[in-house]
Amino acid sequence: MKISDYLEPEIVATHYNGANFVGSETCMECHPDIYKSHLETAHYNTSAIADNEHVKGSFTEGYNELNLTGVRFKMTELNNHLYQYAKAKFGDTLEVRSKLDLDIGSGVKGQSYLTWNGNELYQLQPSYFQPTGSWVNSPSFPEYAVRREVDDTCLKCHVTFAKNTNPKGNSNTYDREKLLLGIDCQRCHGPLEKHVVYHRNTPNSKSAAYVDDYSTYSRQQRLDACAVCHSGLQAQQIKGNPFSFLAGDTLSLYSKNFRSYNLPLELDVHGNQMGLLSKSACFVNTPKMDCMTCHDPHKAERGNADHFNNKCLTCHNVNSINTDNLDVKHTVDQNCISCHMPLSPSKVMKLSVEGQEDEIPVYIRTHLIGIYD
Ligand code: HEC
Ligand code: HEC
Ligand code: HEC
Ligand code: HEC
Ligand code: HEC
Ligand code: HEC
Ligand code: HEC
Repeated sequence: MKISDYLEPEIVATHYNGANFVGSETCMECHPDIYKSHLETAHYNTSAIADNEHVKGSFTEGYNELNLTGVRFKMTELNNHLYQYAKAKFGDTLEVRSKLDLDIGSGVKGQSYLTWNGNELYQLQPSYFQPTGSWVNSPSFPEYAVRREVDDTCLKCHVTFAKNTNPKGNSNTYDREKLLLGIDCQRCHGPLEKHVVYHRNTPNSKSAAYVDDYSTYSRQQRLDACAVCHSGLQAQQIKGNPFSFLAGDTLSLYSKNFRSYNLPLELDVHGNQMGLLSKSACFVNTPKMDCMTCHDPHKAERGNADHFNNKCLTCHNVNSINTDNLDVKHTVDQNCISCHMPLSPSKVMKLSVEGQEDEIPVYIRTHLIGIYD
């Protein structure tokens, strides 16, 4: 590497506000621990090039088909590329081949696949559903679609940045070179070319320049940085386009949900952790609680019950919970969330599975912390 390439790193995309993104691997040299642990997170793994390493759905004979009323799909590997073959059952007998180019979803619950046609991006009809380990019709797809256009309203929550040819973000034509996959550092910290250039040129400076310090944000700003993707679809764009909002901004000035819900039970557990948490007694009765009270955004913590129990116990003392009125005897080694944040079925994310009459909902941990029976 030439010294000038180091001091002036390559610009991989430019945000609508004019600031430049650099490759996320540039963060590694100065923030190695955060960089490494971030690679394990669902955020980092939520979109990628669709190859054998990332695609979770099966291409093995016998497990590689999806049979719907109007169309049959077969998933096939050819010369290290992955393809879907679609054949309509009625009328025309033409077989349509589409390549799996990108995957969306870390695969903990499932994965969807996107295909390029020139610079146009489409979502393919079959998705992978982890609970059954099989191919299913993608949520809200009709019986026969083969593929469907994808625009910023889908990509905004699963990639770091995408450059749509339409300034409003509602076409499916992209600058393919400017698609930053995964939810990376600069999705939550903003485009940081200036920060990297400054610190590479000023190695002795130990205080951060050209980057926001989250501890200077208000509670609402801290919440909004997560709520942009975790408070419903936010499909009604008020200002700019779906990628305009950056951490530090006020989300309500950029977008909102088409419907506002007043009752917590109307909120869906899928993708609305913010809405549910904000209706919980813990949130309402504490001045500072935000997502980072329980989550370290740089670490994969799913399944670490001790970690989350300790978070509850920083505010709740089991001895003072246990009053004579309680039926349940509380102890410190109980898994608090199994009763107070139960896994709950989504009303909107449901999948039809071959051989089963009813649609199967995806189960998601509710953030309405409360007393359930
Ligand atoms: C050449 C070194 C260098 C590079 C490269 C670098 N940083 Fe930093 N960064 C620093 C230094 C020095 C600080 C201040 C000390 C600290 O917080 O670690 C800092 C601080 C930060 C902070 C904390 C700001 C605050 O005040 O709380 C964030 C966030 C950050 N960097 C993000 C990034 C990201 C994301 C990248 C990659 C795009 C990156 N940095 C690349 C040197 C670097
Ligand atoms: C750009 C959109 C986006 C932003 C911003 C975002 N998230 Fe996420 N988050 C997602 C998506 C998408 C997933 C699901 C990823 C998957 O499994 O494919 C996710 C998953 C998670 C998970 C579960 C996965 C795990 O590793 O445990 C947690 C916890 C989480 N986000 C917390 C946060 C917090 C806290 C913030 C704010 C600091 C935040 N997110 C900001 C989109 C986002
Ligand atoms: C999902 C959003 C998200 C992603 C992705 C993310 N960060 Fe952060 N980062 C945050 C938040 C929020 C804070 C503030 C944490 C707090 O105040 O509790 C933070 C704090 C920091 C800090 C300063 C405090 C500390 O924890 O040392 C640095 C440095 C940093 N991030 C670097 C990075 C780097 C480098 C990456 C990519 C490898 C990255 N971040 C990815 C949300 C994110
Ligand atoms: C408003 C933000 C948002 C939008 C828009 C969005 N998602 Fe998601 N998606 C999420 C979040 C958050 C999760 C994980 C947590 C949850 O379900 O609450 C998720 C989970 C997923 C998962 C499961 C990942 C896993 O293994 O857990 C898939 C697959 C997925 N989304 C695909 C898509 C596709 C395809 C689109 C566009 C058609 C889309 N999403 C649009 C926020 C969003
Ligand atoms: C930042 C402090 C804080 C944290 C962390 C916290 N809580 Fe709370 N929680 C409160 C406060 C304050 C209340 C309201 C007063 C009360 O009932 O004690 C509350 C109320 C509750 C209630 C009563 C709910 C109701 O509707 O009556 C339950 C149950 C609860 N919390 C469980 C939990 C669990 C489980 C965790 C961990 C996942 C947790 N809390 C984390 C502060 C917190
Ligand atoms: C009181 C603690 C607490 C707070 C505050 C909190 N979470 Fe969580 N969150 C949890 C626990 C516990 C889990 C379940 C972890 C597991 O599965 O092991 C979880 C899981 C998640 C998941 C994965 C859900 C799934 O089933 O796939 C997402 C996404 C998430 N949190 C986002 C957020 C966001 C965004 C915020 C802020 C609006 C937030 N959380 C605030 C405790 C909390
Ligand atoms: C087996 C299920 C279960 C587990 C596990 C559990 N709780 Fe509870 N908790 C309850 C029920 C049920 C209530 C309602 C009170 C009752 O009638 O017993 C309750 C009540 C509470 C309350 C409200 C007390 C009040 O004064 O109204 C808090 C706070 C709480 N639990 C916190 C926790 C914490 C923290 C943990 C983990 C150490 C935990 N719980 C583990 C079932 C459970």
